[in-house]
Amino acid sequence: MGEDRMVNVELKEIANLCKRRGFIFQDSEIYGGIGSVWDYGPLGVELKKNVKESWWKSMVYDRDDVEGLDAAILMNPETWKASGHVGSFADMLSDCKECKKRFRVDHVKGDKCPECGGALLSPKSFNLMFKTQLGSVEGEAQEVYLRPETAQGIFVNFANILTTSRRKPPFGVAQIGKSFRNEITTGNFTFRSREFEQMELEFFVKPGEDEKWYDYWVNERLNWYVSLGIRKENLRLREHEKDELAHYAKRCHDIEYLFPMGWSELEGVANRKDFDLKQHSQISGQDLNYFDTATGERYTPYVIEPSGGVDRAVLALLLDSYRKETVKDRERVFLSLNKKLAPIKAAVLPLLKNNPGIVEMAHKIREDIKGNYRVVYDDTAAIGRLYRRQDEIGTPFCVTVDVESLTDGKVTVRDRDTMAQERIEATRLKEYLSTKIV
Ligand code: GAP
Repeated sequence: MGEDRMVNVELKEIANLCKRRGFIFQDSEIYGGIGSVWDYGPLGVELKKNVKESWWKSMVYDRDDVEGLDAAILMNPETWKASGHVGSFADMLSDCKECKKRFRVDHVKGDKCPECGGALLSPKSFNLMFKTQLGSVEGEAQEVYLRPETAQGIFVNFANILTTSRRKPPFGVAQIGKSFRNEITTGNFTFRSREFEQMELEFFVKPGEDEKWYDYWVNERLNWYVSLGIRKENLRLREHEKDELAHYAKRCHDIEYLFPMGWSELEGVANRKDFDLKQHSQISGQDLNYFDTATGERYTPYVIEPSGGVDRAVLALLLDSYRKETVKDRERVFLSLNKKLAPIKAAVLPLLKNNPGIVEMAHKIREDIKGNYRVVYDDTAAIGRLYRRQDEIGTPFCVTVDVESLTDGKVTVRDRDTMAQERIEATRLKEYLSTKIV
C-alpha cells in the first residue's frame, strides 16, 4: 500500500461518511438527538459485530484458559459500594459563574472559564453512574445503577464460574456488553459516549505471578490491534503514573491510538490485584478465595484486566483504513479494512441491468455465495459508480457479471485495494472468496 494513499483524516470527515453510508447515526436524531449517544446503522452493526467476534475468538476460542459470561446490566447496588464506584467514580467539576457551562477540573488551566473567561466556582464531585429505579411501588422502589463497567459482573460470579467450570488460576472470564457513564466532557464523535460497549477479560492468577501475566497481557492486547490491521506507528503503550492509577490498580498500561485529537486510550490493561474479590468477599460475606486441593493453599487471586472499548476500536479502524487517491484524474476514497472485518464482503454487480440473462445470473451468484457473510446485489447505478460506493464502505470484492459471462460462465472479480481484476469461473467463486476472507 503506497504511503501517498494515506491521509490524516479528520473526525468530522469520518463522522460524515458514517452518517452518509449508514455506519453510525446520531441517536434519536429526528428529535434533535441526545448528547453523546449513537446508533449503529446497517454497516456499523456488521463492523461492530465483526470486531466483537474477532475479540471473542482470540480471547475464548483460540485459548484453553478462558470462559465466557454475559452478566446483566442491572446489579444489586451493594456491588458498586464494594467496587468503590459509589465512593470514587467521580469527576471533579467546576461551573462557570457567567455562562454556567461545566468543566472537568483536570481539563482546564487556572480558574477562568475556557469558553467565556468568566470565573469558575469551587469544584464539586460528580458521580458518573446513571441511576434508575427498580420496582414500581411508590416509596418502595430501589435505587439502582446502570453498570459503568462490565467487570463487576465477572467478579460477583467468580465463585459460580469457578465451581461450574472446575478451573484453577491462571484462568480468565471474558465478557462483552454495554456500559454507561454520564460523561461530562464529550465530543470527538463516538470516542467518549454515554452508552458504549466494553470487551473485558478478568484473568485470575496466583499472587506473585501477577507481574508476569501483566506483561503477557499488555503484549497480547497490543498485538491484537495490529492483527486487525491497525498500523503499528499509530499505536503505542503508555504506563500510568502513580497519581493517575484507578483506586483498584497496582499498575496500568493504556494502549493508545493516534486519533485526530491526539494520542488517546483504546484500551487499558490493569493489574487490579485482589482488590475486587476481597471487597466483594468482605461486603457480601461470601468466600471468594481459591482453595488449591493439591497444595492445601488458600488465596485470593490477583486479577489482570485487559479492558477495551468496542466503539473506540471501531472508530480507530475507520480512521486507520481511510484512503484517498487519484485515479484517472478522479478522486477515489476507500476503506482498506481488514477483509474479516469489512461489513460487506462482496457486491455482485450486473454490468447491464436491462439484460435479463445477466441480472438472473447475478442474482443466482449472490444466492450461491451468501451464507457466512453479507453479500449484496446492486444495479442502481453505472458500474464505475457502483465500484466507488463499495470502495467507500470497504467491500473487499466486487463481482461483475457481463455479456461474456453468459457464454463462458466467468465473472470479473475486482480487488478493492489494488483495483486489479481477475476472471474467475462463477462456480469457483464461493471457494475463491472463502480463501481470501480469512
Ligand atoms: N473495567 C475497567 C474499565 O472500565 P476504563 O479505562 O474506565 O476501565 C475501559 O474503560 C475501556 O472502555 C476504555 O479503554 C475505552 O475503550 C472504553 N470506554 C471507557 N469509557 C468510555 C466512553 N465514555 N465511551 C467509549 N468508550 C469508553
